Amino acid sequence: MNVLGINSVYHESSAALLIDGKLVAAVEEERFNRIKHGKEANFDNPHQLPERAIRFCLKTAGLTPRDIHHVAFSFDPKRRRKQYRPDWWDPRFEETFHLRIGQVVGATEELLGRSLGQRFHFVSHHLAHAASAYFPSGFDRAAVLTIDGIGETAGASLAKAEGQRVKEIEIFDYPHSMGFLWEVFSGYLGFSHYDASKTMGLAAYGNPDVFRGQFQSIIRSERENFGIAQGFLGMTPDSHDKLVALFGPPRDEGGEFQPRHADIAAALQEATDAAVMALVRRIKRLVPFDNLCLAGGVALNCVANEAIKKSGEFANLFIPPAPHDAGTSIGAALIVHCAKQKKPPQRGYSTPYLGPSFTRRDVLAAIKSAGLKARRSKSPARDAAKMIADGKIVAWFQGRMEFGPRALGNRSLLADPRRPEMRDILNQKVKHREDFRPFAPSVMAEHADQWFEIGAHSASDEFMLFAPRVKPEQRDRIPAVIHKDGTARVQVVSRALNPRFHELISHFHAQTGVPVVVNTSFNDSEPIVCTPTDAIVTFRKSGIDALFMDDMYLTAES
Ligand SMILES: [Fe+2]
Repeated sequence: MNVLGINSVYHESSAALLIDGKLVAAVEEERFNRIKHGKEANFDNPHQLPERAIRFCLKTAGLTPRDIHHVAFSFDPKRRRKQYRPDWWDPRFEETFHLRIGQVVGATEELLGRSLGQRFHFVSHHLAHAASAYFPSGFDRAAVLTIDGIGETAGASLAKAEGQRVKEIEIFDYPHSMGFLWEVFSGYLGFSHYDASKTMGLAAYGNPDVFRGQFQSIIRSERENFGIAQGFLGMTPDSHDKLVALFGPPRDEGGEFQPRHADIAAALQEATDAAVMALVRRIKRLVPFDNLCLAGGVALNCVANEAIKKSGEFANLFIPPAPHDAGTSIGAALIVHCAKQKKPPQRGYSTPYLGPSFTRRDVLAAIKSAGLKARRSKSPARDAAKMIADGKIVAWFQGRMEFGPRALGNRSLLADPRRPEMRDILNQKVKHREDFRPFAPSVMAEHADQWFEIGAHSASDEFMLFAPRVKPEQRDRIPAVIHKDGTARVQVVSRALNPRFHELISHFHAQTGVPVVVNTSFNDSEPIVCTPTDAIVTFRKSGIDALFMDDMYLTAES
């Protein structure tokens, strides 16, 4: 049975394909259309499908539209109609939204060139999030917490998963949305609404004491409960004025950073940690299992994730590599698979490497059409490691592209973590981004515990979702990847999940004694590169020293 999953309701448009319960492909539309997040999250565009992502999924599996048995869409318009309240936001926007959602089935049929009838299924957004975390976790049963901007109407939901069944047990409706709060403050701080990761980076430089009182009037946390005050989330005309009254004027895009901005971000992070922990304690009481799964965009907050892990409330914690909306295409397909087929879907399969890959012939053709000359390496991992150790910035393009917002060693830029100056060099030569944003380390799994305070191991350690402390005795050895507070957003790299990347770090370790490299996504202010041509374009316009694709490599001089 072939189930195509689609997410296009808000942002991170994506498609995924399940064949007999096995995940064979998943990709975000932004990687093809080169628009960050695929599209703006507007009331009038949920019918804009991730067309190229859908085509990619079919092509990868060698299927035609006729072979699709079911289509799963990660939003339920009926549920939205039932639960929406007109005092939340302008009902005219809501009508436009429903008009467009009503066009989704037709748009899908047009794209696939066939009618779907009963084969099209709307799946509740948070149920799709929950399934996207639970089935890949491999747990037999788990408490599942989803925290995002908004599903149909919920900003957070608690679910209980056992066997093939995922059941929602409680929801926190709008305005109780931590995701929206981060969008609003990211905008207030002069970033795009989607740049929560920048706000999180800025928070490390602030003092949460300064604005703690102000945040207490917006977000209320108790031991097992949280709530957000109405009127701050940008949906009502006076919400901007309310923010200005509490925090002063917003920072303009490109404006100077003042200590106040970092203090606001720090207080937001502190309030978020408290609210997330309240939900964790609540779900532990309601679903007293050993296992917790997290989903929703807020599960990309590695500081809050680390707090959950360290709390020990649950023995085991799993977060998928794409906990944000992109992952709901996988989750919706999993829910429909369970409903239509008695056989359970594949469990415990959580690889992020689900996107396009390219043959050596594709790579050579792209190099030739760019008019460049590449060299062949007998050991790309060894040669790339040597260049990194010599202080070069190396682009590493291998195998299937990652699904989810992090580059995890297949579309990555790599550098030497021993050199404190690498941070500035990467920012100035390639990434063209704010100075305060930290870079992440990738460490060989065998050495992770000697370098970072990983704590209880989780399969999600491999997805760069936690921020453990760097061991005090190692701090001086990897200055390029340490945050101001002594933590680092680590990716643990195992040979089993990514043998080529593991081999590269092994060579770096053999050459330097350090089993760690700097890993940042292979892009320059745009979506992560997808094709060899994307890679060459970014390589040529930036200060990257060498580009490895398969066993071919280009250097800045070539
Ligand atoms: Fe979501």
